[in-house]
Amino acid sequence: MLNRQVVLKSYPTGVPLPEDFELIETSVAEPGEGQMLVRNLFFSLEAAIRSWLDGIANYFEPIPLGGAIRGPSVAKVISSHLDGFESGDIIFGLHHWEDYSLSDANTALLSKLSPEPDIPLSYYSGGLGGSGHTAYVGLHEIGKIQAGETVLISAAAGATGSMATQIANLRGCKVVGVVGGDDKATLITQTLGASAAINYKSCGDLKTAITDACPEGVDVYFDNVGGNTLDAALQCMKTFGRVIGCGMISDYNHQDNPTPIYNMWKLVERELTMKGFLLYTYMDKVPAASQQLHEWVRSGEIKILENITQGLPNAGWAYSEMMRGATIGKNVVAMDLRPEESL
Ligand SMILES: NC(=O)c1ccc[n+]([C@@H]2O[C@H](COP(=O)([O-])OP(=O)(O)OC[C@H]3O[C@@H](n4cnc5c(N)ncnc54)[C@H](OP(=O)(O)O)[C@@H]3O)[C@@H](O)[C@H]2O)c1
Repeated sequence: MLNRQVVLKSYPTGVPLPEDFELIETSVAEPGEGQMLVRNLFFSLEAAIRSWLDGIANYFEPIPLGGAIRGPSVAKVISSHLDGFESGDIIFGLHHWEDYSLSDANTALLSKLSPEPDIPLSYYSGGLGGSGHTAYVGLHEIGKIQAGETVLISAAAGATGSMATQIANLRGCKVVGVVGGDDKATLITQTLGASAAINYKSCGDLKTAITDACPEGVDVYFDNVGGNTLDAALQCMKTFGRVIGCGMISDYNHQDNPTPIYNMWKLVERELTMKGFLLYTYMDKVPAASQQLHEWVRSGEIKILENITQGLPNAGWAYSEMMRGATIGKNVVAMDLRPEESL
């Protein structure tokens, strides 16, 4: 059986382009002892993948030229020699961008899902998956948000940011979102519950715009972007404010030349706490987060925003669109399934 796979054709310069990726054909591997063969159904496009495309190691090995792109997927077990998993199970794990993957106990993020029949399966790759969990854990465990506080969120219309915006709003916080377009600003204020939105591309001086939107100061900054937005936010924090280091996407397309941060002194002057986190370290917090997010989705209090691209051959293009900021909500690649593979 053929296995289509997306590999890294060239190291991107700046924003990854569709031509940095290539679709190749390999054959489906046989699962050995302790392994299972899974059919990938939905790939979650992650900003973090960009940091593996420069040939530089971070908390994961870089992806070499010609190597398969890796990213989290929702998948169905076809056959299993791995204890605890059987054919037909729906799982989540870090796989290659391909039709069929081998998975084993060492697969990062591997977990068995119990998808609820009335909830779209794609949600488990985003709002009810890593993006929702990251937003929930970041706000509660790192930011320790309290009702009545002012929470500033960057990339607020993105996968993580759109969930963080809604969660902080539901927790009784005043939410101000920083976004890169007027359509995104309208969305987060009219649909996601943000009190105000700042379009960082058109607002002029960002520090002034944040101060105007948060004259009382910012208690918690949920930072998805780093760079100039972090620099501006540091100047607007209240004394004892908290900065949640979730990601620094504004530097991912030029990691060799990161944006200088000039206002670190505010950390001392205002006795701020700034803490980065990776969701992997907080997996024990995920069940409670998942339960609460399910309740909010069921009640309609949280809306899951998805941008679904159909077909593995379009994954590189979809990733390029995401990394140039052209999309809203969770970016997902839905795999083309043959009739006999449908769920
Ligand atoms: N710590 C963790 O465990 C963890 C887990 C998942 C994700 N993350 C982080 O969360 C952040 C968001 O990731 P995501 O997957 O949810 O992506 P996303 O927000 O859905 O998509 C990317 C968005 O980032 C914004 N962006 C892109 N380039 C930018 C730039 N140069 N300056 C400012 N904003 C830019 C764009 O929105 P605008 O148009 O609004 O600029 C774009 O739509 C990333 O930093 C990611 O690394 C962290």
